[in-house]
Amino acid sequence: MTTTQAAPSMGELQEREHGTGHDYAKGSPHIRHHTIRDRLVTGLHTLVQEVIDRNGQCRVLELGAGHGTFTDHLLAAGAHVTVTEMSEPSVRFLEHRYRRNPNVTVVHDQDGTAACQVGVVDAVVCVSVLHHIPDYLGTVKQLVENIAPGGAFISAQDPLWYSRRSRMSMNLDRNAYFLWRLGQGQFRRGLSTRLRRMRGIYDEANEADMVEYHVVRDGVDEEALENLLTSAFEKVELQRYWSTQSGLLQAVGERFFPPTTFNLVAGHRI
Ligand SMILES: C[S@@+](CC[C@H](N)C(=O)[O-])C[C@H]1O[C@@H](n2cnc3c(N)ncnc32)[C@H](O)[C@@H]1O
Repeated sequence: MTTTQAAPSMGELQEREHGTGHDYAKGSPHIRHHTIRDRLVTGLHTLVQEVIDRNGQCRVLELGAGHGTFTDHLLAAGAHVTVTEMSEPSVRFLEHRYRRNPNVTVVHDQDGTAACQVGVVDAVVCVSVLHHIPDYLGTVKQLVENIAPGGAFISAQDPLWYSRRSRMSMNLDRNAYFLWRLGQGQFRRGLSTRLRRMRGIYDEANEADMVEYHVVRDGVDEEALENLLTSAFEKVELQRYWSTQSGLLQAVGERFFPPTTFNLVAGHRI
């Protein structure tokens, strides 16, 4: 008799990639490169300040907070933050890190539904997380419904929708990643993953295919998100920019290459 094993849950897959001791900065352009990080940090401070000015408080829901790199900035700006994480080791890390901070609540979102049940907040923050969520449009729609009038939404560091990008843009992006990857080792895994993707094959049990869900498929539809937010907020700004892992190629690409990545900043919830 043969037994079929159930595919691992998204929570289990996220944990494989973001396990104990995971280095969130490695391979994260929005943490490593000051131009990207500074724009994001400034955006977070501005968002919290504007919401406090308008609503008198800023209760933030931050999805997929990792180890709290950006939570610290939200707190410094004056927010009370509920952070969610799918990876249990990261949940433990956050609980320990903020154990003496009454302004932080940590939620283990095992199946990706808890964030939408947190209740009313003044702002939602998603840093490098929407591309991990298969139904990101449905999730954002629900999250926006829980934002109080006058509130805000920010999503950062997601790949632009591939079908709107030129072949040159895709090639520059992939070659820049490949050059960086050469210095990282794990060639065999990288090569077999690349070959599978070129054939359009995705394995539901393989974290390489599932965790960076939309990075390895078709990008994130920035225009669909922008439309969704435009119906709920008075002002919406879509920021497109070049982003890659290598520091040198980041500096060159910022000046000469087409954008690969986007932030969406929405203010004043109607
Ligand atoms: C690329 S990391 C970004 C972490 C952090 N925001 C940062 O920028 O340093 C993505 C994180 O999102 C988490 N994650 C993925 N899907 C999630 C979901 N639906 N709800 C909560 N966390 C999620 C992963 O476990 C991972 O820690």
